[in-house]
Amino acid sequence: MKRLPIADLRLPIEHLASFAVLCVFALSILALSILALSILESKIGNSIMPNLSYVSPKATVKDSPIQGRGLFAIEPIEKGEVVCIKGGYIFNGATLERVSRSLGASEIQITEQFFIGPLSEQEREGSMIFSNHSCEPNIGVQGQIVFVAMRDIEPGEELTHDWATTDDETYEMECNCGSAGCRKVISGQDWRREDLQKKYAGYMSWYLMDKIRRMG
Ligand SMILES: C[S@@+](CC[C@H](N)C(=O)[O-])C[C@H]1O[C@@H](n2cnc3c(N)ncnc32)[C@H](O)[C@@H]1O
Ligand SMILES: [Zn+2]
Repeated sequence: MKRLPIADLRLPIEHLASFAVLCVFALSILALSILALSILESKIGNSIMPNLSYVSPKATVKDSPIQGRGLFAIEPIEKGEVVCIKGGYIFNGATLERVSRSLGASEIQITEQFFIGPLSEQEREGSMIFSNHSCEPNIGVQGQIVFVAMRDIEPGEELTHDWATTDDETYEMECNCGSAGCRKVISGQDWRREDLQKKYAGYMSWYLMDKIRRMG
């Protein structure tokens, strides 16, 4: 076997070392680029994800004595003024079942078969209107997604609607609204109650009014 002289071996070893340095350098650049891209993506996701819902500049979201966060008036709001408009994607019950596992309650029903709300965690915040339920509410729904003041509202008041006017669901929930006429336990079937249908005449979601009309 022919032996390479020592001088001949040195060149390939030097090449190998330069190649290894080059590889480490390229991998470092790649890792840094991936890191920078993911930081940029999360910043973009958090800062310029557009709001899917509209909230009046006269209202703000903050901690609520009812539960979690709620919507509050920060300026006087006159009866009839639009307070918020629910936005999002339109999807059916199968999609709702899938997304609600991770997103929780963040949608509103708009027809017998369809719902409106966010589809991803990033969209959830901008799609929420944060209207907690109250048994003595001050905002009501027009159509299916527009919420208006049902009376004049003072700054500082929490903006709430009665979920009997929007929901057709199977839940029962202990109510923490604290109003004098609190029902204590509310249900996703409260829309069927005639007393509530009368109380909220003109403020029931369109698809519920349609159901009530068809039920005769
Ligand atoms: C669509 S979120 C409303 C915003 C919620 N407070 C938040 O911070 O995300 C619905 C949840 O709010 C809570 N909630 C709203 N109204 C309530 C009430 N009157 N009593 C008890 N919990 C209420 C329930 O936990 C319900 O699942
Ligand atoms: Zn209540």
